[in-house]
Parts: sequence; structure tokens; C-alpha cells
Amino acid sequence: MDALVLCFCLALGLIHTTEEKVLRQGRVPPHIVFVMVEDQGIGYHGSEIHMPVLDQLAGERVKLENYYVQPICSPSCSQLMTGRYQIHTGLQHSIIHARQPLCLPPNIPTLPERLRQAGYSTHMVGKWHLGFCRPECLPMSCGFQSFLGSLTGSGDHFSFQSCDGTEACGFDLHYGEWPAWELSGNYSTRLYTERVKEILRGHDQWTPLFLYVALQAVHTPLQAPGHLLRNYQTLGHRPLRHYAAMVSGVDESVGMIVSELRERGYYNNSVLIYSSDSGGQPVSWGCNWPLRGGKGSYWEGGVRAVGFVHSPLLKTKGVVSQALIHVSDWYPTLLSFAGYRESDSSYLDSQDNQWPALLLNLNGFGIWDTRVRAAIRAGDWKLLTGNVGDGDWFPPQTMPGGPQQWKGMEKRRDQRRKSVWIFTITADPYDRADFAYGPDDEEPDNTNRKARSKSTC
Ligand SMILES: *[C@@H]1O[C@H](CO)[C@@H](O)[C@H](O)[C@H]1NC(C)=O
Ligand SMILES: *[C@@H]1O[C@H](CO)[C@@H](O)[C@H](O)[C@H]1NC(C)=O
Repeated sequence: MDALVLCFCLALGLIHTTEEKVLRQGRVPPHIVFVMVEDQGIGYHGSEIHMPVLDQLAGERVKLENYYVQPICSPSCSQLMTGRYQIHTGLQHSIIHARQPLCLPPNIPTLPERLRQAGYSTHMVGKWHLGFCRPECLPMSCGFQSFLGSLTGSGDHFSFQSCDGTEACGFDLHYGEWPAWELSGNYSTRLYTERVKEILRGHDQWTPLFLYVALQAVHTPLQAPGHLLRNYQTLGHRPLRHYAAMVSGVDESVGMIVSELRERGYYNNSVLIYSSDSGGQPVSWGCNWPLRGGKGSYWEGGVRAVGFVHSPLLKTKGVVSQALIHVSDWYPTLLSFAGYRESDSSYLDSQDNQWPALLLNLNGFGIWDTRVRAAIRAGDWKLLTGNVGDGDWFPPQTMPGGPQQWKGMEKRRDQRRKSVWIFTITADPYDRADFAYGPDDEEPDNTNRKARSKSTC
């Protein structure tokens, strides 16, 4: 058993040697469907929002309860595509803005490129957000044989108008390298699902397939078609209704994809991975409660993501994995599924590391300057430095008043100029008890936390 497979076995804690052999000896390596959603906070964990399909798929196979991503899209997606930390691709700062001449460095091999070498067909549907300033930055130059989706972020889910700030606006739905004007007016999640079905119908189950489905839901603007909104007429706030309907749209989409996999004979030899690209955005009705913080921050609510693996090839049902796994791990893991051997994997950040430590961000090399935003998780510990983002705990937003009223409710009186925090994250997953407080510092105020410690979002 090589290091890559071992890594995955430990991470999921369930593939026994015999099952791994079955997985590898089957004539066709497994079809891989990777569904990336945007900004979904704590997901199928008993939410008021209807997610029957996701609940079932996650419940049947492996829930990843210690799954980490980056707090925003471009860095997370770049790590999935390259297996490398963002500090090695220059994407550690922010998302790629539409007017920035920046993209995934073309010299770094990508997951779809490697899977192509392993005999896979590779198709992408959805949001790229890894740059488009030069032809070689586009999805089809990075290993995908087809692409339907948008190149930027936060576009309108129906008109596909996308703006960088308030000025630079444009139509952003592309088929291959061309604008797909004729598809405008369709709802993004539905359109992308139809495209996935089309790919599955046009393919055969004897050639391994890699499908990267990067839904723009549930990112703002909060928009959903009428049939999805009907389930939520009793929810008090208009934006919350739209948010909930968008999540249901994702659930419906994944259900349709799995049905198509079954109908077309792919399912028995498939692995479906579901992942959010970051934590939920509390000010846009996302919910990470009881985790601290949200999208864009290095508190657990920003980086601990919803994730699960569903595959009939995994024989053990109902597994909840507590093992540490990171979005960059999918690169070697999926290549190992595909039977691809990297001749030199030393450049990967996700290779032979069994995750004694997980680097969530770092900017710059050499001296660790605690003024600089950084986060690292090592064993039971998590260290945060610099300005790591809004440290509120945002209670569930179905409560009266909506997110604005609750914002700041639980804010801890963090000291000014404080820039180091240490938590035993295994015992304290909510970033509550900070060990970086000195002996003379006042203990954090605990009064609010007791009242509402149950996760209901
Ligand atoms: C949606 O997409 C279909 C093709 O899938 C197209 O025929 C139709 O015109 C598009 N627009 C609307 C508003 O449905
Ligand atoms: C998939 O597996 C199930 C259960 O083992 C079996 O009944 C079914 O025929 C299989 N389908 C295909 C297409 O192989």
C-alpha cells in the first residue's frame, strides 16, 4: 500500500485492503464526480432547510467531520486543482478579481491534466474563478475537455451578469471559450445540472470520467426559481427564503446527478465527493453555528467545511470520519483512485503528509511575523495570527431579527493589538478558550454561549 492510498485510508478510516484491491482491479477506474458548492455552512447536520438527498448520501457513506478548506473560493479551488498550498501558486491573498491579470500558474500540473494522462475524460461545469486573463488560464487549457460555466464569481444566477466592483461588468457564461448568450435566463444550478446530464448521456460507462461540478450556489446574489421557493413560504425573511431555496436547489441538483449516474450505469463504479469551498457567509444568511466566524475568516466557521464521500465502492456504511482531511488532499487521493503514479510528487503539499499539521494560510516565508494573517492546525492545536477575520459567533438566522440583529451578540472583547490565538481545537471546536491569553488577561465572557449551544441551523 503506498503512501497516497494510506493517506486516504487513514483519512476515511474505512477502505480495507481488500476493498482497495477491488477498487483498483476493476477494469475501469472509478468515475469521479466532484461537486463543489459555494459558501455552504454547516450543512446536512440537522438543518431546518430541506436537504433530503444530501442527508441521505452523506448518511449512507462517509461524512467528513474534520474537513478543512480555505475561507474563500479561488484559494480552495486552486488547491483542489493542484494539490498545492496557495502560497505556492501566489493565490494566498484573496479571490481573483475580474480585472486582475492573475491565474493559476500554467506550469503547475492540474488534477484534470493528470487524470487525462490516466485515461479519464474530463469535463467541467460551473464556476472556474481561477483566472482568465490569457488563453492558457482557461479551464480547457488546464486539462478539461469541455467547459460550461462562468469564469468570475458572484454573477447573477439567471442573467449571468457579473461585476467587479460596480464598474467592470459583463456577461459571464461561457461554453468552451465562447460566451453562451443563448443559455442566459436559465437558473445556474439547473443549467449546470442539465449540462451534467448531457455529458453523462453522451459518454459511456467504460471510459473513466472525471466531472467537476462547481455550483455557484449558494453564493450571493440570493436567487432561486419559484418551484424551490414554494417550500419556504413560512420562513420570515425574504433573503432567508431565497437562501433556503438555493440550498434546496443544490440538493435537487445532486439528486438528479445521482439518478442519472444510476440510469446510465455509472453509479456502481462511481465516487461522488461533495464539498463546500468555504464556510457559510453569515451576513448573507449562511450559518456555521456553533462554529465561530464565517467565510473569509480563519476561525473554524470559515475553514471547516461541509464534506462527504458517497460511493457504492465503499462497503462500510454510515461512517463518520473525524480524521483530518484538507481540500488539497483530493489531488493525490483521486489520482490514486485513478491508478496514476506521480513520478515526482515532492512538489505536492498534500502527498506524504498524514496531517500532523495543516497549514491553512501563510503569507511570506522565513520569519513568522505574528502581525501577518496566518493559521496552522497541528495535532490537537490551532494557532492563529494577524487579522484572521470577524470573530463573532453567529447564531442561527431563523431567529427573529435576521443576521444584522445578531451580529456582534457574542463578540468577545478581544484585546486591541492582539494577534495570536491558540486553541485545542479537538476539545474546543468552537474557538472559545484561547490559550494565548496571558495570566493577567481577563477570561473571555462565557455568559452568552450557554444559552444557545445547540446547533439548529
Ligand atoms: C435555457 O437553456 C435552453 C437550452 O438548454 C435554451 O433552449 C433556452 O432558451 C434557455 N433560456 C431559457 C430562458 O430557458
Ligand atoms: C449495480 O449493483 C447492483 C447491486 O449489486 C446490481 O443489482 C446492479 O445490477 C448493478 N448495476 C450495473 C449497471 O451493473
